[in-house]
Amino acid sequence: MQSPFPARFLWGAATAAYQVEGGWQADGKGPSVWDVYTNTDRMAENGETANIALNTYDRAQYLQDIALLKELGVNAYRFSLNWPRILPDGVGTPNPHGIAYYRRFIADLKAAGIEPLVTLYHWELPQALAEKGGWANRAVVDWFRQYAGVVFDSLGADVKLFLALNEPSTDLGFTAYAKQFRETTRREPVPLTPLPPAAFTWFPGARMVHHQQLAAAAAIEEYRRRGLPGRIAAVAMLLIPALPASDSEADRKAALLADGLMNRIYLDPMLKGTYPEDVVAALRDTGAALPIEPGDMELIARNRADFLGVNFYSGFPFAADPAATDNWGLRMTWQGSPADPFNGPTRPDLFTAVLLRLKDEYGNPPMMITENGAGFPGDDVLADGKVADAKRTDYLVRHVAALGDAIRQGANVEGYFHWSSHDNFEWISGYGRRFGLIHVDFATQRRTLKQSAGVYRTIIRNGGVGPPG
Ligand code: FCB
Repeated sequence: MQSPFPARFLWGAATAAYQVEGGWQADGKGPSVWDVYTNTDRMAENGETANIALNTYDRAQYLQDIALLKELGVNAYRFSLNWPRILPDGVGTPNPHGIAYYRRFIADLKAAGIEPLVTLYHWELPQALAEKGGWANRAVVDWFRQYAGVVFDSLGADVKLFLALNEPSTDLGFTAYAKQFRETTRREPVPLTPLPPAAFTWFPGARMVHHQQLAAAAAIEEYRRRGLPGRIAAVAMLLIPALPASDSEADRKAALLADGLMNRIYLDPMLKGTYPEDVVAALRDTGAALPIEPGDMELIARNRADFLGVNFYSGFPFAADPAATDNWGLRMTWQGSPADPFNGPTRPDLFTAVLLRLKDEYGNPPMMITENGAGFPGDDVLADGKVADAKRTDYLVRHVAALGDAIRQGANVEGYFHWSSHDNFEWISGYGRRFGLIHVDFATQRRTLKQSAGVYRTIIRNGGVGPPG
């Protein structure tokens, strides 16, 4: 069959700074909230930290990794910058060592023929700013604007693809989790980012969401002001199809609200210029209205992104639950089974559906799949120098095919970045959840290309056509 993928399609893989870099206190880097969650609070499973992680702050190490990316056959790589490595206190004087590290890394990637896609923020809020309220403080818009300006002044000429915020919903979901974790386990009081008491998993509050919208718009404004040659996205948006758990009217309403709180509250302002009415009304009812000030919607409208990053893992069923008064009267009903990936049931059909929804309801913006991938319990056993990750391989093949279907039906997608290139530190699950195409022995830093890596290489070589799924 003829490939539906455009000739100049970007075939990539992705990581994020905290999950791979290590060097957590190297060369004047300041602490991020994740350094504190893991080192002070011991929040991750088994008390693990990413202090060393994949040690890619070390050039000797990352050069090996770039060589592996070449072997994988990708023509693009998505990674993120660590905000307090560049600005140790979040604002103020930049750290020249941090900037030099990224400048060199970008040059090394490009020398290998790999196009960088650079995320400004993949959740490493500088601790100094968290202590001033973090995303709940409207000043975060200016903090982020300043940081973005420093990045664009130092790296802007070398990078063609930027992205401001990774998964804003998950970021705040983790912040809410960290708050709960701290409250239940710590003895001494620590400054906390204030959050509404009842945080829905992917929606911890109108105020924070609005600040994220403004911060992304401010970053885009800074980018354009400098007349730089590339393109910028506001978000890599985790899009989660919300399915009604049954045909009942109540469950359909619950799913619609979940969709509003997780997806539309981000997409609508960015792509349509307004917040969704039903969600605005629901927020008003809870007394937590969006803190929109004069000029805010204009800032967002003036700074439309050049493309949309889409992170897709799965979709979930939602049911009405009148007893869940602290959770918007709804409940996610997926129970999970051992055959399922960590991040939800395998649903390539919903991947196609999400992209067609963006085409039909949101004007078909240029899109980049900035994350898609899976980890399964027991799929990543290293035996005789090989990892036969059959489940990930199957997931990959089926999702690339689903993406091809969406493109064939007109979805405007320009690239696909598999999550992840390497096994890495998976936030609150630590090193126990692997998502990589490349296996990492975390004790020795030894890397091994998995079976899925070989299949991905074939897919890329064949212009997107893989073995039958
Ligand atoms: C996404 C995150 C990414 C990684 C994958 C598995 O939500 O953006 O950092 O943790 O999930």
